[in-house]
Amino acid sequence: MKNIVVLVSGGGTNLQALIDAQNSNLIKNGRITCVISGNPNAYALERAKNNNIDTEVIRRNDFESFGEYDLALTNLIKSKNADLVVLAGFMTILGHKVISAYENRIINIHPALIPSFCGEGFYGLHVHEAALKKGVKLSGATVHFVNEECDGGPIIMQKAVEVKNGDTPEILQKRIMEQAEWIILPKAVSLFCEDKIQVIDNIAIIK
Ligand code: GRF
Repeated sequence: MKNIVVLVSGGGTNLQALIDAQNSNLIKNGRITCVISGNPNAYALERAKNNNIDTEVIRRNDFESFGEYDLALTNLIKSKNADLVVLAGFMTILGHKVISAYENRIINIHPALIPSFCGEGFYGLHVHEAALKKGVKLSGATVHFVNEECDGGPIIMQKAVEVKNGDTPEILQKRIMEQAEWIILPKAVSLFCEDKIQVIDNIAIIK
């Protein structure tokens, strides 16, 4: 059984999708053992507590330097014996220490079809604003491993979602969550826990 540690900062609907999948036995060979929040007021923490999942809070602002924060986060994750780290709306950029300690063992969900609308500055509603501004007819979500390049790690799974006339960023965000994020994130997590994802030359292959 693999230990899954989920990092959150906000509402935690993706965390909820993982919890629901776990409760329906859809996450094979893995269980969420801890939820770590970058924000003490994140509703995601309530979701974890409601399901008797251990919680921790670590705030970037409580550390003088980014290096100290990076080390503390790495040690916290290690202390939880994590086999897999899932970023489910975690709003603080990860540092070198944590990324190198968990190479191809950190998964992120991004609300667009990478390589579109990704990289620095593309988070939250900004992603959907950019997609609408460009007039794309399809957007979606991507689950990928995290490396040192922002949103640049090996792509594990993607799902396209239609963009409709009259969409606002909020409407598109909700459709992408419902039709893509909440579906592919639990699937990718299960595949990882079942050892079905292999990375060769920066390309993720699902066995
Ligand atoms: C999601 O849109 C996810 O794609 C992005 O952050 C958001 C988190 O939302 N990385 P929630 O906290 O899971 O509701």
